[in-house]
Amino acid sequence: MSRKSLLTNRASLTHKVGYALRHPARITPYVKRTARDTWLRLKHPGHVAYYRAVMASDTGRNPEAAVGSRSHERWLALGEMQFDYLAEHGLKPGHRMLDIGCGNLRAGWRFIAYLDTGNYYGIDISPDILISAKRTLTTYELQDKLPHLTITQDLKLDFLPSAHFDVVHAHSVFSHSPLDVIDECLAHVGRILAPGGFFDFTFDRTEGAEHQVLREDFYYRTETLLRLARKHGLEARFMDDWEKRPHGQSKIRVSNPA
Ligand SMILES: C[S@@+](CC[C@H](N)C(=O)[O-])C[C@H]1O[C@@H](n2cnc3c(N)ncnc32)[C@H](O)[C@@H]1O
Repeated sequence: MSRKSLLTNRASLTHKVGYALRHPARITPYVKRTARDTWLRLKHPGHVAYYRAVMASDTGRNPEAAVGSRSHERWLALGEMQFDYLAEHGLKPGHRMLDIGCGNLRAGWRFIAYLDTGNYYGIDISPDILISAKRTLTTYELQDKLPHLTITQDLKLDFLPSAHFDVVHAHSVFSHSPLDVIDECLAHVGRILAPGGFFDFTFDRTEGAEHQVLREDFYYRTETLLRLARKHGLEARFMDDWEKRPHGQSKIRVSNPA
């Protein structure tokens, strides 16, 4: 990520005007997105209901684009990047994994194929994307792996057992989450982590002012998220090695103190 893009405030009028002048073809899609955002925001004042409606609308058009991939090749590559990273960081078939915001199993199908039967747990707020996730499962003939795929309304994780998961993962989820959603997750994730387990999440990083674009994209400073995790008694660190991957977001790992 360039220093310049880390300092950009995408919500500022100056940025928007400059961007529109540089990319005139993107003005109409942006206006349409803003109109949809305004309508959905009025209809669904709560964040989860609002984002569920965004996902319903996006998934109806194209489930792979709904999770952020503009082509099938990118969908495959983004899943592979997530899998390779965790494999390099010691993921083993016997591990139990919780994938928060699993989407349509862009990475999930690889984790399901690799992990022992029943060891993958995917949760998501969107029923539409979970239906698409089941299609992915069928496409890759992974029925025998018996993954758990569950709808959720919040991130209290109260329906899951204590000290159970070796790896908890949230890729491109907090980039779409207001701070109270992240706070709720960090307040509860420590309980479900197995001894030695960790929780990796990506986020859209800014080194300038924190901001959001519509209510869909949120940009946080690393310190804000590290502080939030530590407030809940977790150890937290920025993952430098993730920065080398061709991905626009950054990654933080949290764990219970040893
Ligand atoms: C950009 S997609 C990424 C999906 C998947 N992690 C991947 O990398 O392919 C974000 C997903 O997170 C889900 N999501 C957003 N907010 C969530 C929340 N608070 N709890 C659970 N899932 C959430 C969305 O419905 C969507 O499926």
